[in-house]
Amino acid sequence: MGNKLKRNLIDIKDLSVKEIDELIKVANDITSNEDKYSKLCDGKILATLFFEPSTRTRLSFESAMMRLGGKVLGFSEASTSSIAKGESLRDTIRVIGGYCDIIVMRHPKEGAPLVACQKSKVPIINAGDGGHNHPTQTLTDLFTIQKEKKRLDNLVVGLCGDLKFGRTVHSLISAMSRYKNIKFILISPEELKLPDYIKEEVLDKNNIEYVETTDMMEYMGELDVLYMTRVQKERFFNEADYIRLKDYFILNKEKLNSAKKDLVIMHPLPRINEISIDVDDDERACYFKQADNGVYIRMALILKLLEVKL
Ligand code: CP
Repeated sequence: MGNKLKRNLIDIKDLSVKEIDELIKVANDITSNEDKYSKLCDGKILATLFFEPSTRTRLSFESAMMRLGGKVLGFSEASTSSIAKGESLRDTIRVIGGYCDIIVMRHPKEGAPLVACQKSKVPIINAGDGGHNHPTQTLTDLFTIQKEKKRLDNLVVGLCGDLKFGRTVHSLISAMSRYKNIKFILISPEELKLPDYIKEEVLDKNNIEYVETTDMMEYMGELDVLYMTRVQKERFFNEADYIRLKDYFILNKEKLNSAKKDLVIMHPLPRINEISIDVDDDERACYFKQADNGVYIRMALILKLLEVKL
């Protein structure tokens, strides 16, 4: 958290489990009573400051604010802002805080949103910082799991792909480790295993059961949720390594033969090759519903951080 006067969302743990459950409740209510919420942010402005590419996160935040009756401004790449002239992030944030009521920012440097919130007079939402965290994707993921499975506990969750650089995975593990009886199956190539600091500080510290495997099929029949991820090209230092690893796992219809009938297949998107398009028609495929859900949970989050009375 930043100062006492404003709430930020930098890390998913900035929200308690109770607060996350409340956000999910509000998001659910918005999906069935959207009109009730359509003017709650009248007169408010949300700024989206994206120093890295995005489709879903930026546009779903903008859609969320517009659906609440608010307005949006911002930039989708640093080259169109005065950062390109050498202005510091600190100064940029300080200035933009005078133009809006809440800031959503994505940055390639881990920790940049934390630095920003120390200089900002308005709430800051981390929309992804390097290979570190992506807490609003996690809210979207939890909302999706709750909708599909009707629970956030007693689940076997397979996380597959780039567990080293995948910030959505890091935040999701941190969030789900606070729910009861969660078992993680960590499926990755050796080179892209979950970082030790997350295993030690999150999984081991909280006695969360997990196994690591390089074989996507080994635990397929046990999974309640399969969370596929893209190999994060932009975090690699060496293109040859990326090319060697990018198609390591490809989920297709045939591989789902041994999976549970009520498996929930998720992906934060964008997808490259890791889910074959023949899976899209399978009723267990939830990744496009997941992207839609992002708007409603982000509406709930904006209302919370702006302290709008419901
Ligand atoms: N899931 C996600 O963060 O997508 P974008 O990079 O398109 O925002």
